[in-house]
Amino acid sequence: MKKVVLAYSGGLDTSVAVAWLREQYDVEVVTLTVDLGGGSLRAGVEGRAMSAGASRAYVVDAKDRFVRSFVWPHLQAGALYQGVYPLATALARPLIAQLLVEVASREGADAVAHGSTGKGNDQVRFDVAVHALDPSLEVVAPLRVGMGLSRDQEIDYAIARGIEIPITKASPYSIDVNLWGRSCETGVLEDPWTSPPADAYEWTVDPATAPAAVEVIVGFEGGIPVSIDGERLEPVELVERLHVLGGAHGVGRIDHVEDRLVGIKSREIYETPAATILHRAHRALEGLTLTKDTLRFNRIVADELAQLTYDGLWFSALHRDLRGYSASSQRVVSGEVRMKLDHGSAVVVGRRSPLSLYDKNLATYDEGDAFDHASAVGFIEIFGLPLRVEAARHGAVGRHHGAAWTWTEPLLESLPTTVVDRP
Ligand code: ARG
Repeated sequence: MKKVVLAYSGGLDTSVAVAWLREQYDVEVVTLTVDLGGGSLRAGVEGRAMSAGASRAYVVDAKDRFVRSFVWPHLQAGALYQGVYPLATALARPLIAQLLVEVASREGADAVAHGSTGKGNDQVRFDVAVHALDPSLEVVAPLRVGMGLSRDQEIDYAIARGIEIPITKASPYSIDVNLWGRSCETGVLEDPWTSPPADAYEWTVDPATAPAAVEVIVGFEGGIPVSIDGERLEPVELVERLHVLGGAHGVGRIDHVEDRLVGIKSREIYETPAATILHRAHRALEGLTLTKDTLRFNRIVADELAQLTYDGLWFSALHRDLRGYSASSQRVVSGEVRMKLDHGSAVVVGRRSPLSLYDKNLATYDEGDAFDHASAVGFIEIFGLPLRVEAARHGAVGRHHGAAWTWTEPLLESLPTTVVDRP
């Protein structure tokens, strides 16, 4: 190993890792910092990389690409890990991995490195993605191979080498941020019974203290958000607006005990104001514009995509093909959704679309009803046929064709019942 490209956040761990890699392996270290929004880019990161001994520092603004190519496909699919987590951290990893590989190639480096620990998902995501793109690269994770220093030891290590120390105060949590979400774990959060302390949250106000409810209208084209309250916005700005608005109303707090890929259950607190609003709105618009069969099938695709992304398999053929299906299914998911942000909740209060499948003349119970009530009788006759045959042959309520087929306990005799006769 001669030259290594390190994914560099500019925090204490990765700053120490620059010096540690040089000393341990006698290598040249190039750092790569990827700005993914949400406060992920720390000021002065290049200078700190130099102070730690890097020979060159790359800083890449990937915000727009992150939203367009990673976040939007998952919003279109409605992909949430275990139905809950919008995958902010997981979605960033393949993008960072790809940039590591490309910088390594430009620099003629033979290895890449990242600051993940040996028991999380991120190490898997980085290693697997890097090797899918370039199997010849070595991947080093200093925290996995002996760098494990306490915070105080890291500070001493940095001071002894003249490494600029980031001036953030010690957080009791381990945090990852990008514009799609903030992930916060460890410390007191490790007891899943303990209610998250106020300091676990940074992006959202306590819902109890939020101002009066507001409404916001999100416009979509082909399953992709394009406007807020009628104003067309670029992807990053759109997400940032909803981030601020949602956060101010306490929207997007998620408390999740999740199953890591490495087999551990872990408790994570997420703050995802924009993702929460957009996923709800998107789902409501799908409900208006897609058939029930497509809606049902999309749930399967959503779960599958979420799992693959969570497990670091972004660059697999299955992931790509499911994204392809998902994008195609979104052709007609265009229109507007009215969301009400009310003390921590984001609820859909209205939706409309030029491609809506909702037909008021069919749905109405008022005048103008175009639905043929009489033909419902024939429909039900045919629809119910298999059940009637099955009940007749195998027994259902109140029938005993041998004890084995008696599934249903009598109800009337076992429930308190009042019977009144006319006097
Ligand atoms: N559990 C999430 C995931 O695996 C987020 C991990 C982020 N890291 C953190 N230090 N909170 O995608």
